Amino acid sequence: MAPSASYSLQIHGGAGALDNVQDSKTAVRYLDSVRRVLEHGREVLELGGSALQAVETCASLLEDDPVFNAGCGSVLNEYGKVEMDAAIMDGRDLSAGAVAAVQNIPNPVQLARLVMSESEHVLLIAEGAMRFADHCGVVRAPDSYFSTADRVAQLERARLQHKMMLDHDDTEDDSEDQKYGTIGAVARDLSGNLAAATSTGGIVNKRMGRVGDSPIIGAGVYADNETCAVSSTGYGEEFMRSVIAKTIADFAYMQGMDAEQATAAGIEYLTRKVKGRGGVIVIDRDGRCASGFTTKKMVHGWIEHCGEAVARF
Ligand code: GLY
Repeated sequence: MAPSASYSLQIHGGAGALDNVQDSKTAVRYLDSVRRVLEHGREVLELGGSALQAVETCASLLEDDPVFNAGCGSVLNEYGKVEMDAAIMDGRDLSAGAVAAVQNIPNPVQLARLVMSESEHVLLIAEGAMRFADHCGVVRAPDSYFSTADRVAQLERARLQHKMMLDHDDTEDDSEDQKYGTIGAVARDLSGNLAAATSTGGIVNKRMGRVGDSPIIGAGVYADNETCAVSSTGYGEEFMRSVIAKTIADFAYMQGMDAEQATAAGIEYLTRKVKGRGGVIVIDRDGRCASGFTTKKMVHGWIEHCGEAVARF
């Protein structure tokens, strides 16, 4: 099928050492979830839904799965509270919406979309974002929806080690065995439009009010029909400093690179400039899918040009 008449979709569920996936039951759990979400996204795109709709649907489903660090599976901050960040971007006109440090919102990516469509702003934070959610009729979820025994134990370990941990870190080793959690989706629809979405609970034991890269347009998310759609996962501070999503789009725009070339150039830049830890998923304007990561693994999967769903680490 010609690229112009096809759709593509790619999602991720965080990058890191992911040593726990040596256990085949855990590996199957991640990969099954990725395939299930991809098939939901396929349905949206096959029925003529927009790339924007597809990434919002996929990101919402990933937020609803407690295995991922976003939505109900979000990690806890220094006070044992969940504070989430999310963003969404439409490659048709560079419109974007984002929220940061929001609490009790089951699907922050949906609130980010409301910021895009129902306000004149791009980024709303904390109490202001939550008042906007109330104004839009978004139903809040109780603390118990987010706080799992695993997350409480994870925070206790981080406190005992006097450190911030970078999501799903279930070991004593803070150097390698980490998963830099975030979820994200990028899509190209049948009309050739691109979109991207990213959502996260951030990092374990983070300072109250800390905001990562996920809601920062150009760092955690970017989409432009002329170039590509990008969603990042990793240590947010490094992704913000390298403005990695826009940097990858710039490689495509200024040097005519396709998804694979721009991703490779972006990962090289991320590593060389800031020793960035994490990864990206990318779909270019022709619907080609690419991914890259500096960690041992990244949970991700894709459907390229209406093909089979592939799930990988
Ligand atoms: N990339 C997610 C974060 O640093 O918050």
